[in-house]
Amino acid sequence: MSVTVFLLLVALCAQGGNGQEGAETQRRGHVSVIIVGGTGDLAKKYLWQGFFQLYVNQAGSGNTFSFYGGGLSPADKATPVLFDNLKAVNCSKDVSKERCALLKEQFLRLAKYRQLKTLEDYQGLGKHIEQQLQEEGMTEAGRLFYLSVPAFSYADIAEKINSSCRPPSGAWLRVVLEKPFGHDFRSAQVLASQLGNSLKDKEMYRIDHYLGKQVVSKILPFRIENKKFLEPIWNRHHIERVEIVLKETLDCKGRISFYDQYGVIRDVLQNHLTEVMTLLTMKLPVNISNSEEVLQNKLQVFRFLLPLGKDQAVIGQYQAYKSEVQQELNKTKDHVSLTPTFAAVLAHIDDPQYEGVPVLLMSGKMLDERVGYARILFKNDVFCLQNHNSVHCKPKQIVFYFGHGNLQYPAILVSKNLFKPALTDNEWKEVTEHKDVTVLGLPISDYYVQTPIQQREAYAELISHIFAGDKNSFISTENLLASWGLWTPLLSGLGSSFPRIYPGGADNGDLLNVQVKGKDISYISKEVIIGLDQMGDTSARGFQVMQGKFRSADMVSAWTEELVERLAADMQEAAETAVRDGGVFHLALSGGSSPLALFHRLALHHFTFPWSNTHVWMVDERCVPLTEPESNFRNLHDHLLQHVRIPYYNIHPMPVQLNQRLCVEEDGGAQLYEKELSKLVNDSRFHFVLLGVGYDGHTASLFPGGKVNEHGKTLVALTESPAKPHQRMSLTFNAINRAHRVAVLVMGKSKHEMVTQLSRIKDNTTKWPVTGVKPANGRLVWYIDYDALLG
Ligand SMILES: *[C@@H]1O[C@H](CO)[C@@H](O)[C@H](O)[C@H]1NC(C)=O
Ligand SMILES: *[C@@H]1O[C@H](CO)[C@@H](O)[C@H](O)[C@H]1NC(C)=O
Ligand SMILES: *[C@@H]1O[C@H](CO)[C@@H](O)[C@H](O)[C@H]1NC(C)=O
Ligand SMILES: *[C@@H]1O[C@H](CO)[C@@H](O)[C@H](O)[C@H]1NC(C)=O
Ligand SMILES: *[C@@H]1O[C@H](CO)[C@@H](O)[C@H](O)[C@H]1NC(C)=O
Ligand SMILES: *[C@@H]1O[C@H](CO)[C@@H](O)[C@H](O)[C@H]1NC(C)=O
Repeated sequence: MSVTVFLLLVALCAQGGNGQEGAETQRRGHVSVIIVGGTGDLAKKYLWQGFFQLYVNQAGSGNTFSFYGGGLSPADKATPVLFDNLKAVNCSKDVSKERCALLKEQFLRLAKYRQLKTLEDYQGLGKHIEQQLQEEGMTEAGRLFYLSVPAFSYADIAEKINSSCRPPSGAWLRVVLEKPFGHDFRSAQVLASQLGNSLKDKEMYRIDHYLGKQVVSKILPFRIENKKFLEPIWNRHHIERVEIVLKETLDCKGRISFYDQYGVIRDVLQNHLTEVMTLLTMKLPVNISNSEEVLQNKLQVFRFLLPLGKDQAVIGQYQAYKSEVQQELNKTKDHVSLTPTFAAVLAHIDDPQYEGVPVLLMSGKMLDERVGYARILFKNDVFCLQNHNSVHCKPKQIVFYFGHGNLQYPAILVSKNLFKPALTDNEWKEVTEHKDVTVLGLPISDYYVQTPIQQREAYAELISHIFAGDKNSFISTENLLASWGLWTPLLSGLGSSFPRIYPGGADNGDLLNVQVKGKDISYISKEVIIGLDQMGDTSARGFQVMQGKFRSADMVSAWTEELVERLAADMQEAAETAVRDGGVFHLALSGGSSPLALFHRLALHHFTFPWSNTHVWMVDERCVPLTEPESNFRNLHDHLLQHVRIPYYNIHPMPVQLNQRLCVEEDGGAQLYEKELSKLVNDSRFHFVLLGVGYDGHTASLFPGGKVNEHGKTLVALTESPAKPHQRMSLTFNAINRAHRVAVLVMGKSKHEMVTQLSRIKDNTTKWPVTGVKPANGRLVWYIDYDALLG
């Protein structure tokens, strides 16, 4: 008894009362490690192994240990399970067999199971530790609680620890927590404040195991070691884009009850990928060991990040997920989950250094390969006329390769046309001999490659950092809340979006490829997203875009906004294809109010639309001067043409006014337009014709009861409308049905009845002129919004 007190006094005096954290870590003595959830999966796979490694590394350091596996089950049941886990630990290669066996035997002797359920259990543990210290006359260095349990129990356990397991002053308390740290900003804040009642900020170690990966923890040191090369190019003038990618091949089977509430954004992007992003883009700290400075620099990145909205993300879900949910959550066949298992998000940091540099964060389950990396792709202003394999012509990039994939080992790769990185860290080596693999488009021989001499498991790394009291590799409360502040608005914005369904594995093809346009991201391919049969309960307002059949032609349906987005994208795709194949795109647009939203979309979001190669034609026109508000051309001009850079001679209004009169047969306006059309449009085949449908089934200015079938081979005709002004000029069925592609856009609840009738009736162009739209060698697609389709 008196010996213990004496030792304790010595220890307190030695500490000298200054530089708390540092002094604490240096104090030698007894350390109690308690894994709450010590018989669980994570403990079995990584934690005991990590603590055993710590024990091995600390042998001879003057510290002594005891290990407790805690759990809810009574000791007689759980003890054998715990020991099965403990027996599986291994030594690293540099430890001899005999020594390993000895250390392992000691480790097993130092470990015990304790039931940790009630407050009394925790009090019992506290008493037990004290008693043991007393009996053996040991000084206490600290207590390390690792909570490997569901997050909902954190607050409760932290309270029990605070009330009954705090070590006496002079010894440290560290409590390790695993994600999820909340579900959104609010819940993270609530959890943080609950924990704050029981634990001091410096006592909490929130694990993001990504920060324990050797390459991830090397990002900042690498940036510092290579500052003289990187500083001039680490900015918007030189960086083309940043990609942070974690691809998985596994599905979510067995984890659905957790996963379905979180999804890939909460599971991977909000934490792992965001942390990597901040390490790549934060201002370099003057003193990398100063965790406060590192934290402040990280927080600054969050302050400059532009908000993430729906246009900055695309989401997907692997096909089998739905049935896995139905099975594991015991749901019926019509249950639909909108939880994304894939996401690609485009972030922008709005500061002078990175302004305009796209930062892509992507992750998904059931992808074609397992790999994780961050790639900084630099602009290459070298254009090679010959010798495309010359190193100067190739991509300039730095790849932080976290592991798996082609390379199989963690590494930092710098393409040889950038610079040769410094190697100052004696735990890393340069790789010069490698098998012939390609990493992100470049053969490995085109890179300088550095790799850790000894690969270490992330958890073991982090456990050694916790023991050293090094907080840099952990998520502080402020950092956590800043991250949720970024992601929460996007998560709520995506709330009812339907993810694109992907088959999984290599079959995904280019279904999940994305493109970046300005500040927006979208999928490249506009493949079938979801069929009518998969739609399930149509009252669920979740579906983004679905594809089906309407009047035996293709149909795309979505809520208005998504539908317009989709049509604009399809139109751009058609334009790009036509321009690529023939240098020109001939587009015929109709009037009315439906296309206005489309025109706005095209003008405001499609900056890369090839307008300078596009000719714009009119589908129809009212017989009014082109400057009148009722003029279709006037509308087209005001809402689209004046906002885009299109040469004026590419614009073709219908000549409804000739000889100072409107639509007089003898003036030959229709023939004039037809002549122009035949002259400029190859084979008089428009690439894209956009039509609408009226309540009466008219399309273009082809009205029921009109002589719509009597135009024969003419392409343009004067027609009669029942509405005012009566006279119109219009493309004929002949002109429309020659087109390569025809889109019929139908929007609004008021069109629902007409759509319903149209879906049932046979072709009758006299009664329903729109039924005469049947491109002979082209493709017809109906774009119908949910209001018009479902009422
Ligand atoms: C220890 O090594 C064995 C054999 O290589 C392996 O099966 C086991 O998973 C390893 N244990 C741990 C905890 O990594
Ligand atoms: C821990 O518990 C004590 C009372 O036992 C309380 O005064 C204190 O505020 C609690 N929280 C912290 C962080 O110490
Ligand atoms: C860097 O920060 C650490 C931790 O705060 C401190 O111990 C060390 O003295 C600092 N180094 C320098 C050069 O300021
Ligand atoms: C599934 O749900 C049904 C109906 O609610 C219930 O009878 C059945 O016991 C449940 N099965 C499981 C495995 O939860
Ligand atoms: C023009 O149309 C004809 C017949 O449709 C086709 O064979 C030819 O390739 C087209 N020319 C161009 C330049 O597209
Ligand atoms: C088309 O509808 C009109 C008016 O209802 C009708 O008189 C005519 O017989 C129909 N034509 C065909 C081919 O069904």
